[in-house]
Formats: sequence, structure tokens, C-alpha cells
Amino acid sequence: MWFEDFLRTRLKRLLIKESSVALVRQVPSLEDKFRDINELGLYLHIPFCRHICPYCPYNKEIYDPAVAKRYGDAVRKEIDIYAKLIGDRPVTSFYIGGGTPTTMLYDGLDKILEHVFDVFDMQCGIHIESHPNDLSLDNLAAIVSMGVEHLSIGVEALQDRHLKVLHRPYTVAQVRTVVERAASKGFKCVNVDTIFAFPDQTCDEVRQAGRLLVEMGVDQIAAYPLFDFPYTKGVQIAKARKRGGVLKRRKMLRILEQIFYGAGFERTSVWAFTRPGVPKYCSVTVPLYVGLGASGGSYLKDVFYLNTFNVQEYIRALDAGRIPIALSLPLTEDMQMAGWLYWRVYETRFRKSDFRSRFGREFDRVYGRYASLLSLIGFLEDDGDELFLSDNGIYWLHVLQDLLSIEYITKMWGTSQQDPWPEKVLLS
Ligand SMILES: C[S@@+](CC[C@H](N)C(=O)[O-])C[C@H]1O[C@@H](n2cnc3c(N)ncnc32)[C@H](O)[C@@H]1O
Ligand code: SF4
Repeated sequence: MWFEDFLRTRLKRLLIKESSVALVRQVPSLEDKFRDINELGLYLHIPFCRHICPYCPYNKEIYDPAVAKRYGDAVRKEIDIYAKLIGDRPVTSFYIGGGTPTTMLYDGLDKILEHVFDVFDMQCGIHIESHPNDLSLDNLAAIVSMGVEHLSIGVEALQDRHLKVLHRPYTVAQVRTVVERAASKGFKCVNVDTIFAFPDQTCDEVRQAGRLLVEMGVDQIAAYPLFDFPYTKGVQIAKARKRGGVLKRRKMLRILEQIFYGAGFERTSVWAFTRPGVPKYCSVTVPLYVGLGASGGSYLKDVFYLNTFNVQEYIRALDAGRIPIALSLPLTEDMQMAGWLYWRVYETRFRKSDFRSRFGREFDRVYGRYASLLSLIGFLEDDGDELFLSDNGIYWLHVLQDLLSIEYITKMWGTSQQDPWPEKVLLS
């Protein structure tokens, strides 16, 4: 524990260079924020689920059709606010996450999408998350007819005993049928989200799950270790049962890497493996983005801000003509560079020339000595411009990233789920 705290403090000092960082209850002035942005991404949050899984950190509440309808109307009002600010700047990435976006298939999601495509210059397809129990033949047809090209399915586990512990309402046999059905529908990319390193999970079970995933014929597999977010009930599951540490997780990930590479998949992010030639399924792909909906987060060069998490408050704010931003954080150049680096490490490769175009500074001058050190221990390969992380580098750098990100998410999301309009969230 003391070692984790020590590492966390060193990382903050190295990357953020601020002794104290806090989000505050303030709406940033947005008029000038879009002026020199050439392209941006859109994220839309649908905060509804038919049941709540105990391990899940995301902002969600139980789906209620009447609330979902009012929520859809509010999202369209928020889109109108951004239409004026974004103007004709191209939107080059669009991601719908949750919660469970497929709960709103017949309660206003189609109207939201129509509106998005009416008012913005959309130059991209739609990526959407779905729950296996929402993927009947009719629902898949509705998803296709909305223009969705990239579909993700939350499979989670491939042993019935683990599905039970996670409170997932289906069996392995049922989810397999659903995934194979979706994979035959002609999407550009079908991704499945899975979790490993459950309490009591064995390496043999991980191997069996990996092989089954490959057999199901999907284009991409995202395999996350089970993360503990202290404000969820899942952490109690993990504490109550035996749970491996980072070394056990590394061993399990290595088993999955071998199976996925052996089946011809390529690594496309820390946790994702994609068939070659398939456009990868991932969250917003461009560095600057606007987040719509309750808990939507936006990143616009020198500011990060977060909408209220509370659905009723979100609707109320938009009904009153107010933008639903609850918290914001002005970003120093060091914070912007650290944020850029965080996401590039997540993608496992990046170009120094992209860093130069974004910040007008040489990557080697800012981070060169750390990159050399990482090359020396085999975590990184540097071909002059492009940097590639090795499998070991990906894993261990991500363990370091998690020291910060789990703490930040816990403070930011944990507080926002308790209080719709927090005065302040101290990150460090
Ligand atoms: C928004 S959910 C996916 C869509 C849908 N709500 C569902 O559950 O099927 C996003 C994904 O994040 C992953 N996830 C959620 N909580 C997690 C945790 N504590 N640790 C690791 N992965 C987690 C799961 O794989 C989950 O499917
Ligand atoms: S894992 Fe998916 S279905 Fe479960 S609570 Fe989270 S968002 Fe909802």
C-alpha cells in the first residue's frame, strides 16, 4: 500500500506537476473554445440499464420508459446548444455508451440520431454499446436501420458460475447464440467486452474462455481485468473471495494474448485485439470531443468538463435552457500533454510528429529521457518517429496508469453519483 502511494505521488509530480488539482462547480465560457478546433468527436451517454451489475462504475439507473422519453428530448436540446458552438466543423468520431444504449432503441434513440445527423457535419459511422439480452432479431434489424456500423456486446464472462457472481441475466449458451447472430449481420466491426481475473477464476477457465471467444467469429475482443472501484458493490465481491494481484492478472492476460495472436488477431489497444483489416471498435478516436447526456465529459484543448450525473437534474437544466455542466477543470499545458500521452499509451503506439503538431514541442525534449529508459528495459521500441509498446510495456505501463486513473475516476464519478452539483472535487 505504501509503495502504491509512493508511486502515485511520484507519477503525479512527474506528469501533472501541480501540487493540487480540483474540478470546480463552474461553467467554462465555451464561445471561444471551438474557434481553432478543426475536427472533433461526439460521445453520447445513455444512463439506463434493465438491471444493475454490482461491479460496474458507470453512471446508470434502472430504465423507465417515461424517463427515457424525457431524457431523449433533453439530449436533443443539448445538441441544439452545441450546434451553434460547433457550426460546420466536421465530427469524425461518434460513440454511444452507457449504461445500456440499447434500452432506448424504441424510446427516442432514433430521434436523437436523426437530430445529430441533421445538425452536425457527421463524417463518421456510429459505434454503440449493447447488452446481450437486447439483441433479438428485431432489435438487431432496428440497430442496423439506424445506421450503426460498429456494435459492442457486453458478454463479460464465459463460465456460468462467473456470470452468476456478476449477476448477469443469461447463460453462456444463450450469450453465444446472441453473439453469433450479431456477427452474421454485416456490421463493419462486432466487438465483445469480456472480463477476466474474477475472484477464484483459474487459468484453465481463462484459456477456455479465450478459445470460445475466438470460435464465436467476432471481429474484436476486448478483455479487461476486473477493476475494483471502491464506490461499487463489486469491490465487496472481490474482497469476500480470493482474488489475484497484478502478477496473476499478467499471467492470465498472457494466456489470452497467445490465443488471440495464434488466431490471427492484432493488438489495437491495451485490452483490445482485432482481426486484421477490420476498423477497430473503440471509444471516441479523436483527441478533442464533446460529451452529451448525463455524466457526459468533454475535452476541449485547455479545459475538461463534466455534465451532471443526475438524470432528473440533467433534464431540468435543459428544460430551463441551461447547459447541464456541473464541474470543470482548466488544463495546464503539462496536464494536456500528460492526457495526450495517457491515451496514446492506451492505444499502444504513437507518433512524435503528432505530439509536435498538437503542442508545437518536440516529444524527445519533453519525455525523451523516460522513453529511452523504457526502451532500455524492453517496454518500448522507437523507430525515430513512431513509438511501439511491447506486450510487457503495455501491461506494466497500464498498471502504473491505473494507479492514477482508478483514483481519479473514484473521486470524480463517485462524488458525482452522490451529489448532482458538487462544489468541488479534489483530485490530488
Ligand atoms: C457499459 S458496459 C457494456 C454494455 C452493457 N451495459 C452491458 O453491460 O452489456 C461496458 C463494459 O465495461 C466493462 N466493465 C464494467 N465494469 C467493469 C469493471 N469493474 N472491471 C472491468 N471491466 C468492467 C464490462 O466489460 C462492460 O461490458
Ligand atoms: S455492466 Fe452494463 S448492464 Fe451492468 S450496470 Fe454496467 S452498464 Fe449496466
